[in-house]
Amino acid sequence: MTARLQMSADTSKKCVVLGVTGGIAAYKACEILRLLQKRGIDVYVVMTRNACSFVAPLTFETLSGHPVAVDTFERPATWEVEHIALAKRADLFLIAPATANILAKMACGIADDMLSTTVLATRAPVMVAPAMNTGMWDNSATQQNLRTLQARGVHVVAPANGRLACGDSGAGKLEDVCVIVDRAMEVLCEQQDMKGLRVMVTAGPTREPLDPVRYISNRSSGKMGYAIAAAAQRRGAEVTLLTGPVSLDAPAGVKTIPFTTTQDLLDRALEHAADQDILIQAAAPADYRAKTIADQKIKKQSGAELVFEMVENPDVAATLGRDKRPDQLFIGFAAETQHVQENAQGKLIKKNLDMIVANDVTAPGAGFDVDTNIVTIISREEIRQLPLMSKADVADRILDEALILKQKLAVRS
Ligand code: CTP
Repeated sequence: MTARLQMSADTSKKCVVLGVTGGIAAYKACEILRLLQKRGIDVYVVMTRNACSFVAPLTFETLSGHPVAVDTFERPATWEVEHIALAKRADLFLIAPATANILAKMACGIADDMLSTTVLATRAPVMVAPAMNTGMWDNSATQQNLRTLQARGVHVVAPANGRLACGDSGAGKLEDVCVIVDRAMEVLCEQQDMKGLRVMVTAGPTREPLDPVRYISNRSSGKMGYAIAAAAQRRGAEVTLLTGPVSLDAPAGVKTIPFTTTQDLLDRALEHAADQDILIQAAAPADYRAKTIADQKIKKQSGAELVFEMVENPDVAATLGRDKRPDQLFIGFAAETQHVQENAQGKLIKKNLDMIVANDVTAPGAGFDVDTNIVTIISREEIRQLPLMSKADVADRILDEALILKQKLAVRS
């Protein structure tokens, strides 16, 4: 069924990989393909086996001018190469129509056919346009899967209301194909001003164990670091996210590496720092750890005081700052409760940072566990105070400033 994919297409054109799943709306994917082509987009199609029962692969092959990828497990020698090549080729991965089944597989990371495998492998932005029966759409499993996907940065073009093929009326009808194509074009035209840059972001708290069941940690939620990682990935950077224990979904297309303690974070950061163009230390490492970690659970002291001796942890930022190359841009954060600007400026110098993002964590709308922040961006030359903004917007402003500084570093080094 599957012909070998030819990747010798016009590389100056943007490429959409169009995933088609098995629903009655599959025929509308032909129109989506045509509309994308009219906008100058090169389209490759991947179909599930069920989609082939609604529209023949030959139709998409003829329209797209490329072989259509279907389930290729009959050809074990080549499928691995083909799905990775397609995943890499995509500037946008659009699945339209997307059944409840593909949404569930994506939410769980299941890769058991050509489409689910390819979308799992891609680092491109992903968009889904679901279409299904109203009951399936309303089902909490489907809604939960959508929330999971959205939290990972997947764009969702929600279905419209209307009369469905099954005779029911309600939500579940594939959104108008023009709307889907407009949304796809918006994502495709988003700034890719970080393409070619490698960015390492650290995020979240550390945990310093006291005994097998207890640890010392802090209130960092990781939201700011995750927002930066997502924004950098969306802007085309290759992102490595070092993450402490947080309850956030990793942004799609970002390589994540977990850490637990400050020493652990330092080890991971040193492993990856040399490969990066930009380092962003948004994590909240504990400054101290227990001098000894009890082997067994510490018991109550029958009224006596319990005293822990703490020793200082390495300063991850200071270590990275000391070792960084002149062309590497290094950004830190300063979470302060008083003298915000002075304290942050001191840290900028002490840790050899190029830029520090300072915030008063006691201010309403800033700091821990909220989706907004109020920050001051401080470099050696400039101080820029930003108003209350969503963490997503703050992330973009930090990256805007980072790109300006990076260019200056490149000129100097
Ligand atoms: N930082 C670090 N390693 C540490 C402590 C902090 O890498 N052991 C980093 C943070 O990730 C942040 C910057 O240093 O980017 C400033 O962290 P902050 O907690 O504000 O300052 P500290 O250096 O810990 O100083 P203090 O707690 O005394 O304010």
